[in-house]
Amino acid sequence: MRLSLARYDPAWMTLNRNSASTANGMSKRIALIPGDGIGPEVIRVAEQVLAALAASHHLPVDCKTFDWGAEKYLREGVALPAGAIEMLRRDFDATLIGALGDPRVPSNQYAVDILLGIRFGLDLYVNQRPVKLLDARLCPLKSVAEKDVNFVVVRENTEGAYAGVGGNFKRDTPDEVAVQEDVNTRKGVERILVYAFEYAAQKGLKKVCMSDKSNAMPYGHGLWQRTYADVRRRFPQIDAQHLYVDTLAMEIIRNPSQFQVIVTCNLFGDILSDLAAALLGGLGAAPSANLRPGSISMFEPVHGSAPGIAGKNVANPMAAILTVGMMLDHLGFPEEAAQIEKVVAEAIHLGMTTPDFGGRLGTREVGNWICERL
Ligand code: NAD
Ligand code: IPM
Ligand code: MN
Repeated sequence: MRLSLARYDPAWMTLNRNSASTANGMSKRIALIPGDGIGPEVIRVAEQVLAALAASHHLPVDCKTFDWGAEKYLREGVALPAGAIEMLRRDFDATLIGALGDPRVPSNQYAVDILLGIRFGLDLYVNQRPVKLLDARLCPLKSVAEKDVNFVVVRENTEGAYAGVGGNFKRDTPDEVAVQEDVNTRKGVERILVYAFEYAAQKGLKKVCMSDKSNAMPYGHGLWQRTYADVRRRFPQIDAQHLYVDTLAMEIIRNPSQFQVIVTCNLFGDILSDLAAALLGGLGAAPSANLRPGSISMFEPVHGSAPGIAGKNVANPMAAILTVGMMLDHLGFPEEAAQIEKVVAEAIHLGMTTPDFGGRLGTREVGNWICERL
């Protein structure tokens, strides 16, 4: 059997934060990748939000748009252009992506090349996905208040089942064998666990829940167990808990208020973050950040390109708007970030939403309302 290695070499040692920034009087430079499906619709609104804040708060941002996505791939055969990662690292402070994925490319390989290409290429090892309920009426659970759903999923973002190690043998025959390896490194597991505990400590939170499937996957997730035992000892002030991922999935629905920080592997983090988004009313309110502390980062809503609703002006732009908030917070504008969240919550309270949140407005109209408020 031929095993192939991932095509992306994380640049472990070579990353530096771009030096030109507002600290020396220059704008924060943001690379926009609208992508496919509803991506361009929600990124248009995100851009409008940035422009509104630039006008009202003198926010120094400078955006440049890149056409990476299905159209370019189908036209030119190019997914992530040569030199793209270096260019992002050199010329930008942050990247904001809409979504990637198009039914015309069933393999999805170009989207994986772009999305995982950036995550792995910039070694953005943290995928931070906040789960914060902004209006109790959106939560499908009984008797849940806003304060009951407020936790963050810290997803490992550079290895695990996403490492791209595997292969097919006797492909397309009745004897086909397919292998997709789950790659866990001591360094990779340790740095995500340390990030989760440090995040909790810095935010004054008390609880971290580590989740794995070590009862069934003793090698890979045994490493998570042993590393966790080591890391938790360094944070005696944090109440550390372990749950197997199947139990965690149940507990997130049964009693979400027990969680503050959940840390888990790449694949489980992907699944749990969509599950948890259901508590917020759906993917329309789920933002995310791909981080490497001290380095350029990439921001994207948790949702995908939603081809079924693309081009109809019905996609909820709030996840993308909240993602802009995460980006601004990360770039050193916490007040603007807080204001974005406040205005989005206000829009939801007043019913100024797209149909998925019970309203009657379109994507653009929700964007206009929020921008006027900002
Ligand atoms: P999806 O997130 O696109 O859609 C799931 C469901 O949620 C659909 O019913 C969709 O209509 C709805 N939805 C998603 N975002 C919404 C929004 N903003 N407003 C209202 N409704 C919304 O997931 P999927 O259908 O499994 O995947 C579609 C494509 O997107 C696939 O190609 C997939 O690989 C890709 N994808 C990309 C990303 C990304 O680029 N970050 C993330 C997830 C999925
Ligand atoms: C996400 C998406 C991606 C992932 C896909 C599109 C590769 O689902 O960002 O959550 O699995 O990471
Ligand atoms: Mn996902």
